[in-house]
Amino acid sequence: MQIKLIGTPSTKEEFEAMFKAYREYFEEHLKAVCNSFCDSGAKYKALYDAAAYSLEAGGKRIRPVLAFEMCRVCGGDPSDALPAAIAIEMIHTFSLIHDDLPCMDNDDMRRGRPSCHKAHGEAVALLAGDALTAYAGKIICDSSLSADKKAAMIQVLYDRTIGMIEGQTIDIDGNFDTLDGLISMYEMKTSELLTAACVMGCIAAGADKKKISAATAYAHELGLAFQIVDDILDVTSTSEELGKPVGSDEEQNKTTSVTLLGLEKSKELAEKYTHGAENALAEFDDTEFLKKLTDLLLSRKK
Ligand code: IPE
Ligand code: IPE
Ligand code: MG
Ligand code: MG
Ligand code: MG
Repeated sequence: MQIKLIGTPSTKEEFEAMFKAYREYFEEHLKAVCNSFCDSGAKYKALYDAAAYSLEAGGKRIRPVLAFEMCRVCGGDPSDALPAAIAIEMIHTFSLIHDDLPCMDNDDMRRGRPSCHKAHGEAVALLAGDALTAYAGKIICDSSLSADKKAAMIQVLYDRTIGMIEGQTIDIDGNFDTLDGLISMYEMKTSELLTAACVMGCIAAGADKKKISAATAYAHELGLAFQIVDDILDVTSTSEELGKPVGSDEEQNKTTSVTLLGLEKSKELAEKYTHGAENALAEFDDTEFLKKLTDLLLSRKK
């Protein structure tokens, strides 16, 4: 299957069509990867059923789409970013499975279904997260990319995964006295994986250091806006709309942008980071899709 791109989307409809094209391309290939889990044999069925259950539940797929589009704006063929797109979604999905465990946020719903541990049990959910972490690297290593590109992708993917895990560690206690402290944690738990997605997309295209640092700056700001919006939606949305519980942060007594700043100021801060992200796009040509995506993530309802 080829990605049916329509070029620079000047309207909302064209943007949506392009997003859909990326998503469909991704879903088809993800399905093939999940089907290949069965080759590991019946003994591990419980493990791979749980991994596929969470992967295929269908999140927004923001990180894969970012990998594809960063590759395209760096002059590459988006399909070269497919291993990166699958790998980052695996790492992200592992982070969500573990984030929902009773010892973490203790959330029973994710992506519109019972959380992995609710459907498959805690032990298997834990191991499914572990398997996805390892599989992500395997997907890149087994791909037909050049050895140099594989090495560069593995480096950024796992450096940034460590950053996310360190951020989740700081978030266990979940109490922050200052906005600076909270934002430093968001930089880790959320911006790091978005950075991995964007930078791997650049690497797939063979982009230079200047583009990679612009993509890093973009993802950093986007991640902060994204997490603040996530905090806002935890207060303002419904679990039907979000596909995950609302009120989870309050239940866990977490400091969030909303508890520190209130809703209005949190929205303003998310806007500020969204502008920061859009400014970082100046290094690239043909950024209409990325601009529209960045805006959409600010006004998203789920
Ligand atoms: C949820 O990420 C975790 C955060 C970093 C806030 P997403 O909102 O991208 O989750 P999915 O992939 O759409 O389920
Ligand atoms: C999670 O932040 C970020 C991760 C690294 C998983 P949250 O705990 O706020 O994410 P949700 O709201 O459960 O998706
Ligand atoms: Mg959490
Ligand atoms: Mg959570
Ligand atoms: Mg949240």
